Amino acid sequence: MDTRTDPTTRLRRQCRHLAPATVLAGVLTVTGCSGGSPSTLDPAGAGAGRIAGLWWVLFWISMAVFVEVMALLVWALVFRRRRDARVRHGQPLRFVTIAGAGVPLVILVTVYALGLRDLAALGDGPGPRAPTIEVTGHKWWWEVRAEGVDGATANELHIPVGEKVRIRLRTADVLHSFWVPQLMPKTDLIAGEVRETWLHAERAGNYRGQCAEYCGTQHAHMAFLVVAEPRRDFDAWLTRLGSPATPPQTDPQRRGQQAFVQGTCAGCHAVRGTEANGRIGPDLSDVGSRWSIGAGAVPNDPGHLGGWIANPQNVKPGNYMPPQPVDAERLPDLIAYLRSLK
Ligand code: CUA
Repeated sequence: MDTRTDPTTRLRRQCRHLAPATVLAGVLTVTGCSGGSPSTLDPAGAGAGRIAGLWWVLFWISMAVFVEVMALLVWALVFRRRRDARVRHGQPLRFVTIAGAGVPLVILVTVYALGLRDLAALGDGPGPRAPTIEVTGHKWWWEVRAEGVDGATANELHIPVGEKVRIRLRTADVLHSFWVPQLMPKTDLIAGEVRETWLHAERAGNYRGQCAEYCGTQHAHMAFLVVAEPRRDFDAWLTRLGSPATPPQTDPQRRGQQAFVQGTCAGCHAVRGTEANGRIGPDLSDVGSRWSIGAGAVPNDPGHLGGWIANPQNVKPGNYMPPQPVDAERLPDLIAYLRSLK
């Protein structure tokens, strides 16, 4: 007896396992098996709502076409042999004209018109009096400023709920792309150009954003957070952005500030209200309240902060911050100081 399995049988056996896996993958994709990641199908603002609406129109058209094709296939398999003798010559031609040319034409024209409508809606930005947030992409973090405010933060921007906010985009180096899946489609940041988009959130909350254009080793760790909050909280954020950082309150914090200002930190980083005025890395005036360290690389807690200061290359290889020669007894002071900056 031949114990080898012939290729056809083997393929058939593999396909039996493959079919349920494919169906499962399809179901997971459609139901958004995202584990809490932001989804364009869970829009929270007018811009993303347009994209989600268009997505569902395309989805249901595809479903209708799929069902129709499957029904025709079954019909052909079951009835063709019995009926083809009675089909007259004119019928197949008429069917091909309608299903192969007429129906696709209607679908394409409809989708094109809907696309134009949504494109026009996305171009309808905020009025001249709307707040303007200025965002600059760097390898691999986001510099955030507000028009008319002398101060900066990083990887986090605030917007008032229910209002359109203008976002002015620049890049300091290569091509990046500003994308907040639940609020607005992508806008590329192009060297030498100033691009504009806008954000609008219908409900308060934190919305994760992501660089959506490959920009080098740490492209994946170029995330940011959009905080949508009531207008008075947004105004308070603008005020904080333009104010000096919280002065140190305890002895460790004071020693930490001294180490920061006199050490290598101040060469690259700024803290408002101190002599530290570096412009190469992110402004750290509110680093203690930020959602993460390294633009989404690790959570912002004392342990990760200490690990980052000692050797940022372990945490986010390739980023531009070199390992820091900080004494073991100075490190807790530095952490205490940076954690107090809120
Ligand atoms: Cu910046 Cu990808």
